[in-house]
Amino acid sequence: MDIYAVNASPRKKWNTATLLQHALDGAKAAGGDAVRTELLHLYEYSFTSCKSCFHCKRLGGKHYGKCVLRDDLAPLLEKLSQAHAVVFGSPIYFGEVTGMLRCLEERLLFPYLVYAQDSPSLAPKTVRTAFVYTMNVPAERMHEVGYPARLNMMEGYMTRIFGHTPQVLYANNTVQFSDYSKYKCEMFSGEAKARYREEHFPQDCRKAEELGAALVAG
Ligand SMILES: Cc1cc2nc3c(=O)[nH]c(=O)nc-3n(C[C@H](O)[C@H](O)[C@H](O)COP(=O)(O)O)c2cc1C
Repeated sequence: MDIYAVNASPRKKWNTATLLQHALDGAKAAGGDAVRTELLHLYEYSFTSCKSCFHCKRLGGKHYGKCVLRDDLAPLLEKLSQAHAVVFGSPIYFGEVTGMLRCLEERLLFPYLVYAQDSPSLAPKTVRTAFVYTMNVPAERMHEVGYPARLNMMEGYMTRIFGHTPQVLYANNTVQFSDYSKYKCEMFSGEAKARYREEHFPQDCRKAEELGAALVAG
């Protein structure tokens, strides 16, 4: 059983990557030797967004249902489509997932999306998915500004294409710099952030482990 985590933060050891590793650890603890896990860092890949070439929708074409673009993403798309489960992790940038994750989503999902009344999916199999979002804003503010509703749009496409409703974990009020005194950021108190992290981040890590375990158990 292959379970992948895709880190869509440019930082390989910070909030998002840490939570993803916990999700994979939770999956491994739940599934033992039957589970193979891998943490993939999306910023190591060189790729573009969908180019709207429509080869994937061309009737009778040899690329029907597949992305024709040949870049670093091609083998990754294949791998993710054959997985038992994929956890997508992203920092929130301007209220959305990072541009890199957005490009991956376009390339992964569009070839499997059929423009037809009954909307079948061309995905080769069902895949369990989950999203881990990390962000500066506290939970109350996140709801006030409507992040969950906005992010839910892509979660809905994942459900439609891969046949399972994604699990979702939000990690709020994350620490952004190791030393706040070195940066221009009067909006945030480094001490308050550190206190919040000490109390809440271990809980977020536990929730990530539970999320990983549920991907196996489900
Ligand atoms: C370009 C950029 C835009 C950001 N925009 C937001 C935002 O709109 N809302 C928010 O809550 N945090 C925002 N953040 C903060 C990150 O989402 C937050 O620090 C996140 O936990 C970073 O994840 P990482 O530590 O895994 O890199 C932004 C950070 C960057 C670099």
